[in-house]
Formats: sequence, C-alpha cells, structure tokens
Amino acid sequence: MITVAICGCGNRGLFAYASLSKIVPDRMKIVAGADIRPERLVMLREMYGVSEDMCFDSDEELLSQPKLADAMIISTQDRQHVGEAVRALELGYDLICEKPISPELSECLRLQDKVHETGRHVVIGHVLRYTPFYSTVKEIVERGEIGKVRTIDATENVGYYHFAHSFVRGNWRREDETSPMILAKCCHDMDYLRWIADSPCVSVASHGALSWFRPEYAPKGAGTRCSLDCPEEVRARCPFDAEKIYLTGKYGFDRRGDAWPQNVVASEPTREKLEKALREGPYGRCVYHCDNDVFDHQTVLMNFENGITATFTTSAFSDEIYRTIKITGTEGELYGHMEKDLVVVKRFGEEEKTYDLSSKKGEFKGHGGGDAGLANAFVKLLEEGGEGLTSVDASVESHAMALAAHESALNGGAAVKLSDFIEKNR
Ligand SMILES: NC(=O)c1ccc[n+]([C@@H]2O[C@H](COP(=O)([O-])OP(=O)(O)OC[C@H]3O[C@@H](n4cnc5c(N)ncnc54)[C@H](O)[C@@H]3O)[C@@H](O)[C@H]2O)c1
Repeated sequence: MITVAICGCGNRGLFAYASLSKIVPDRMKIVAGADIRPERLVMLREMYGVSEDMCFDSDEELLSQPKLADAMIISTQDRQHVGEAVRALELGYDLICEKPISPELSECLRLQDKVHETGRHVVIGHVLRYTPFYSTVKEIVERGEIGKVRTIDATENVGYYHFAHSFVRGNWRREDETSPMILAKCCHDMDYLRWIADSPCVSVASHGALSWFRPEYAPKGAGTRCSLDCPEEVRARCPFDAEKIYLTGKYGFDRRGDAWPQNVVASEPTREKLEKALREGPYGRCVYHCDNDVFDHQTVLMNFENGITATFTTSAFSDEIYRTIKITGTEGELYGHMEKDLVVVKRFGEEEKTYDLSSKKGEFKGHGGGDAGLANAFVKLLEEGGEGLTSVDASVESHAMALAAHESALNGGAAVKLSDFIEKNR
C-alpha cells in the first residue's frame, strides 16, 4: 500500500492522480494534504477519508511535519512546485510533481540536481505519454511500421471555451503569475515530440502572439462583465459570453452539471453559486477586458539531432479541444486524432490500417486516460522500482524547448540553440 500526501488540493490535486486510490484502494491511499482554502480540506476529508489532524492549511505546515507518507503529489500553482518539491525530497518523499516544473529553466535545473542528489523517484505530470493514443503512436514508430521518421507535424487545438476559461479569465492568463502559454499548455507536446523523435532537440524557432483577447477587439458596445453590463444583442453573438460557457452552453451547468470548468468557478457548484461567481468573480469578466497577456496562438519549428524536423501549432481558436499528429517516414505515413482515439497508418502502396483505441482508456477519461495511467505507473514504480517514464531529466528537455520557443517568439522568430539556452540558464 503506497500512502500519499497532497500538497495543493485544487482541481488536479483532488481529482487527477489521487482518484486512482478509489480504483485500487489496496495499492494507494491518500493520508494527508494541505491547501490554503479551508473548503478544499473539507473536500479532501470527505473524498478520501483523511483525518482532520492530517489536513494542513499551507504547504509550509505540511512540509514542516516529519514525513507523513511514502509519496507526495505536488499540485499547487506553477511557481510553487520547485520549492515544495526540493523540501519534500529532503524529507524523503517520492514525488508526482505537476507540470510545468517551473517557468524558470534555472529552477527546473535546480530540481533536477536535487533529484540526482537524493536518488528519489520523481515523475513529472506529462500525462500524454501514458495515454493509449500517444503510446500507440510511439510503438508504431518504434516498430518501424512507417520506416525512419522524417517529419512530425502536431497540433493542439485548445478550444475557444477552454482558452477563455484558463488563459483569458483564469489561472494561466498571465505569464508573471504562472507561465507562458507554450509552457503551461504545450510542455506536454514538446515532451511527446522529443519522445517520439527519440533524439535531443538541437534548435527551435517560433512565432506567436496575443492577437485577439484585447480591448481593441471588443465588439462595439460590449460591457466589462457579461451578466452585469453587456447588452443582450452583443452577448447573443459572442461565443465567449460567460453565461453561455458556464451555465447554458454545450459544456455549461444546465447540460453537464458540476463538471469542469464549473467546478473551478465555484467549489461544489450549484446554479446559484455559479451565478454569483459570474457576477462577482474573475470568470464573469468580458474576455476583451481582462488582465491577460499570454499568447493565443503559436507555431514552433524544431530540429532534432537525428535529422527529424517537426512543427507544432497551438491555437485558442477551435470549437472542440483536440490534438492531432501527422508523421511521415521513409516507408509510410501516420495520422492520429487523439480525441477520436484514432490512428491511421498508411505504408506506401499498401492498404491503410486503422487503430481504434476507444476501448483502451479504462475507467478514467481525464486526459485521454493519461491521468490514471500516470498515477498507476507511479505506484508501480514505487512497488517494483525501475525507471519512471516521465523523469525529471526528460521533462527538463521539454521545458527548455518550450521556453526557448517563447524566447524565439519574443525575438521575432530567431532560432535558439538548445545547448546554449540551457547553459545560459544554468
Ligand atoms: N498534468 C496536466 O495535464 C495538468 C493539467 C492542468 C493543470 N496542471 C498543473 O497542475 C497545477 C495545479 O493546477 P490546478 O488546475 O489544480 O490549479 P488549482 O488552482 O485548482 O489548484 C492549486 C491549489 O493549490 C492551492 N494552494 C495555493 N497556495 C498554496 C499553499 N501555499 N499551500 C497549499 N496549497 C496552496 C490552491 O488553493 C489550490 O487549491 C498547476 O501547476 C497546473 O499547471 C497540470
């Protein structure tokens, strides 16, 4: 039985990896946790049966106790992870640490050094590698089904409502509070691109911008809060209207109940709680009148040491949330659509072969099955030993790629050599 403490009982802390303990209660048990919001500690007790004396009102309180569990999940906000993780390693915990490790490459390198020094197991939350979708793509490439890989072309379509929720109104809207979008959202993509290319990335170049969610693009007559001062005729045409997103629309409360993103807007949301939050809180703001600064679209060009070239595009502007990948090889090509659970392989001159992965996600749907997959792999790692798939060493490379892409975009697209970039930040 692996016992676990949760540092930061927010959306990820309570609902992602910890939920595995309900599926395999004989292998994983949540025994302690910390959050600065008292209502989250109440939820921790109710969801996982954690006793009151094992609930702490801050990361500092939790980390000033002697070691309380075998492992810790670090799931506070982006800039808090490294300080907590370093302290937890000193106390002897093995860790699941949420991505991004940190928006500062120097801090990522600090954690890497500490992991090497302590020799503890640390898995970073790159959940996509644990999905049936990306692991199937990786296996097909490794089997040589399409020959030797030459190019990879990947997309991450964030979804207009997800982008408005997280990157305009919500937690990841500002670089100085969390991370640049290419790191916050796409270090996963940098990670699986490096993994599939199976070679270090030599250089990156990138263009991107915050091009739309700014006051100058607000519809004529728009207010500053959707449900308070924005005229009906403006709201009727606005896809980003907060009431549509959180209450009446395809993913809103009336159709999907208290699921994400409603459960971020209010803890244990009801319609009344949500209406109040939209009148008073950050999620009711007009998307053209927020204090956001992160990019809303970006393209990255990558060159790997083994000669593979790759492009990656992320955009706020899609109806659905989905990722795609196209790989060309010397003997065939591969196309994949993650949310459709579909991979198609076409060897040159042969019939195409379709892999339908929809039955493989298991009980959990979070991140295409990746949340549960990562937690399960972590527990297995602690039970049996060995190497974690998403180690700090692998993760630091993906962080360097994302941060170098951001630097390139800020400098008009000039290519950034990864080895120089890492040395400069050491
Ligand atoms: N792996 C993934 O796919 C994935 C997906 C989404 C988010 N994330 C990452 O997970 C992390 C958490 O994201 P989230 O959506 O759960 O955010 P969240 O804001 O819901 O959770 C963070 C929690 O930390 C708590 N907290 C803040 N300061 C604290 C302190 N000093 N001590 C204890 N608790 C404190 C907050 O009250 C909150 O409950 C972020 O770094 C985010 O980038 C990863």
